[in-house]
Amino acid sequence: MSRTVSASAPGKVILFGEHAVVYGRPAIAVPVPARQATVTVRAGDDGLTIHATNLDCVLTVSPDNAEDPLAVAVINTLRHLDAGFEHDLSVQVKSTIPIGSGFGSSAAVSAALIQAIGRYFDAELTPADVSRLVYETEVLYHGTPSGIDNTVVAYAEPTYFVRQQIMDRFDVGRPMHLVIADTGRMTPTRETVGDVRAGWQRDPETYAVVFDAIGEIVDAARAAIAEGDLVEVGRLMDENHLCLRQLDVSSDELDYLVCAARAAGAMGAKMSGGGRGGNIVAIALPWAVKDVVEAVRAAGAVAVIETVV
Ligand code: PMV
Repeated sequence: MSRTVSASAPGKVILFGEHAVVYGRPAIAVPVPARQATVTVRAGDDGLTIHATNLDCVLTVSPDNAEDPLAVAVINTLRHLDAGFEHDLSVQVKSTIPIGSGFGSSAAVSAALIQAIGRYFDAELTPADVSRLVYETEVLYHGTPSGIDNTVVAYAEPTYFVRQQIMDRFDVGRPMHLVIADTGRMTPTRETVGDVRAGWQRDPETYAVVFDAIGEIVDAARAAIAEGDLVEVGRLMDENHLCLRQLDVSSDELDYLVCAARAAGAMGAKMSGGGRGGNIVAIALPWAVKDVVEAVRAAGAVAVIETVV
């Protein structure tokens, strides 16, 4: 086989429900097509190698050295396809998704990698296959991932999600203009998820109250999104942010960007993803987007993405 194939997967942003989703409460996430991971597979001449340009990493993949999550993604996909492991393939990974910032970069890279390997071997993997294979690598990155990242990047659609139970597309009654602003600080999701787990183990009742409150916010948000009640969506984002502060996964930088977005006219704003770094997401009416973008830039955001859901 001498052809070249490629596949892409979008970044994602969690609109509601991060952290509580690990404990069985619902969450809502949407794809961010403005940021993509792209993987190209072509015939190589020296075993199976992965070149990840942005990560400055070159790996040789074999079933014996499958410790790196990217290598594991390849091995598991070849196993799923029953394609054997002896291949001369050159795999190029490129991504415009910021790493460690709540954009689901690892899941998107894995999803693109898995789809590209599938295509190279003429197999059209279903989104469910891709999601499951991505999940297996997310475990290596994040310890106990809820499964929301692999689901939203594999399906590339707005998703209402309950761990191991529900994966629904949700209706969007009126387009939502989102501004996503990056603190520039990278905090591993594993760290904040681990801290929340430690807190929950110390004081399960208090944590359960906060998780329940987040679950109610998510369900109310789903209804508000379906009705196109963007004012209510914004209010619920603000409430969700307060809950995340109670879980101690926000930070001064995140709080500052959230305040700046609100002061500039956003209808609501919250941190998104693992927290203590990464992004905030704000919702604004179309004519206020520019002001919100300028405000979060002035407040120190290192990157700002606008997207419409
Ligand atoms: O920061 P991200 O995009 O990896 O999102 C993490 C979301 C959590 O709910 C904190 C963890 C999870 O596995 O769902």
